[in-house]
Amino acid sequence: MSHILVTGGAGFIGANFVLDWLAQAGADSVVNVDKLTYAGNLKTLATLEGDARHIFSRTDICDRDGLDTLLRRYQPRAVLHFAAESHVDRSIHGPADFIETNIVGTFTLLEAVRAYYAGLDETARAGFRFLHVSTDEVFGSLDPDDAQFSETTRYAPNSPYSASKAASDHLVRAYHHTYGLPVLTTNCSNNYGPYHFPEKLIPLMITNALTGKPLPVYGDGLNVRDWLYVRDHCSAIREVLLQGTPGETYNVGGWNEKTNLEVVHTVCDLLDALKPKAQGSYRDQIAFVKDRPGHDRRYAIDARRLERELGWKPVETFESGMRKTVQWYLDNQVWVQDVLSGDYREWVAKHYAV
Ligand code: NAD
Ligand code: TYD
Repeated sequence: MSHILVTGGAGFIGANFVLDWLAQAGADSVVNVDKLTYAGNLKTLATLEGDARHIFSRTDICDRDGLDTLLRRYQPRAVLHFAAESHVDRSIHGPADFIETNIVGTFTLLEAVRAYYAGLDETARAGFRFLHVSTDEVFGSLDPDDAQFSETTRYAPNSPYSASKAASDHLVRAYHHTYGLPVLTTNCSNNYGPYHFPEKLIPLMITNALTGKPLPVYGDGLNVRDWLYVRDHCSAIREVLLQGTPGETYNVGGWNEKTNLEVVHTVCDLLDALKPKAQGSYRDQIAFVKDRPGHDRRYAIDARRLERELGWKPVETFESGMRKTVQWYLDNQVWVQDVLSGDYREWVAKHYAV
């Protein structure tokens, strides 16, 4: 049986990827390596219980021995690296975990994979890939009239999160140039969809709206993000793994630039239609709050390379993806409540108290 090894497969995008991957006929088994931080949630993977194709290991990517053991035991044909600390606001309050996981963790994983790759026979080496999942935030902030980020845009990270991801991208690149490791890097825009932890904009707004809390919009609400439905990101990663050229990077985006206020209005309008309040609109709960320090104004991805070279295009529009997402949160309140009863509540209390 062939395997792929996925890091961070209990988080938002990683878990969606694992679920989508195993839903395909003839898919390789998945060795899912996750430390289970506050963002890791095995309940997301509940439908895989008893499925021998999903092997979960609670392992930190900073644990070299643990990684060596897993690589030796399962001999994966590819490593897909999703594990990271991923929330910008948390990185502002406490950057140390971001340096540890995103930089030291990626370095430790690269070292383990380099040793594993060196021991493979020629055929296995020819087919092996290390795919690094990264973000568009490494490119910094765009002005309203600037061209979208392309694969050649200069790196200019502005938050401890994006700086730590930029560092990890550079390490991955260096392992290709120096050691010949067959790496692929994807830089994706903001994702949304099922199983998104409710500290991020869209799930936070849905959750707060339904519980009658304020909808905290930072600053003037006119910062722009380029939104991609998570399953479209997963299909892009599969395509890059299959057809990407080692050493190359691919930008992944949804062609959906929206201001935060437009996003929040969309959430409110969908909830007004799908679960109306007794009185008034969910928009009445919108509250403008203090801006995030160093808040990047605009992100936007030029995803033409992926379309031109690998034939990938997103399936969902912003409208169809948002409708699916809001409906998913309405239908999966048990998952949401389970998350809300954990560490999340403490974090929100601390964060929004200021
Ligand atoms: P997430 O925070 O939801 O999940 C991260 C997962 O990594 C969690 O399951 C967590 O337990 C695990 N993890 C954290 N530290 C670990 C460690 N030291 N060892 C092992 N596992 C560890 O993040 P996400 O939104 O699913 O993002 C996944 C990847 O995609 C990240 O690399 C992120 O930078 C990138 N990305 C995210 C977005 C987005 O919009 N969410 C967009 C582009 C790129
Ligand atoms: P977020 O989901 O944290 O993603 P990122 O910072 O990685 O883009 O935030 C998306 C946008 O929404 C960002 O411009 C910050 C803004 N935002 C709010 O206005 N209020 C909130 O409560 C949160 C979490 C984010």
